[in-house]
Amino acid sequence: MIFTDYVGNRVVLHFKHTTDQPVSKHVLMITNYKGQLLLTHHNNRGIEFPGGKVEQGETTIQAMHRELYEETGGIAESYEFIATYTVNDTIPFSKDVFYVKVSHIDQLSNYLETNGPVIVKSLDEVVEEDKSFLLKDHCILYILETLKERFNVEA
Ligand code: GTP
Repeated sequence: MIFTDYVGNRVVLHFKHTTDQPVSKHVLMITNYKGQLLLTHHNNRGIEFPGGKVEQGETTIQAMHRELYEETGGIAESYEFIATYTVNDTIPFSKDVFYVKVSHIDQLSNYLETNGPVIVKSLDEVVEEDKSFLLKDHCILYILETLKERFNVEA
């Protein structure tokens, strides 16, 4: 599926692992904490799903656990690969999207570039001006829609 993002970049979504991936790799987590969404409040961008860049020498799974913990204090009980999307920016990059069930949230003294966890039942609870562009992104909202039932069934 193809989307256009807020700056006009073409975003290509695949519900499988793709082999023709750009060099730069990111992860994004759709998080289920007791049936609710666990988000993070990024200092500059606003409220969004946790995620970030995969560091050198790290697997995407390791990056997923690290970013989740750094940005929310969340610990994954289970996770599932959902999709990969490629953002065709000047230098294209791709993001692996995981559905993550979070069992526990540690309270941290520092959440790096974020203000830490935000827990909501639905994105409607996040006021529009607090939303990061990622919470308004058509590709991410489409993926969330495909996972909606999981929040009701597995809560
Ligand atoms: P960090 O500070 O390390 O997070 O890096 P950064 O600020 O350089 O941002 P990043 O490399 O994550 O993203 C660079 C640009 O790509 C951003 O300014 C956004 O415009 C865009 N971008 C990042 N993530 C996404 C995404 O998931 N979808 C879309 N459509 N664009 C994104």
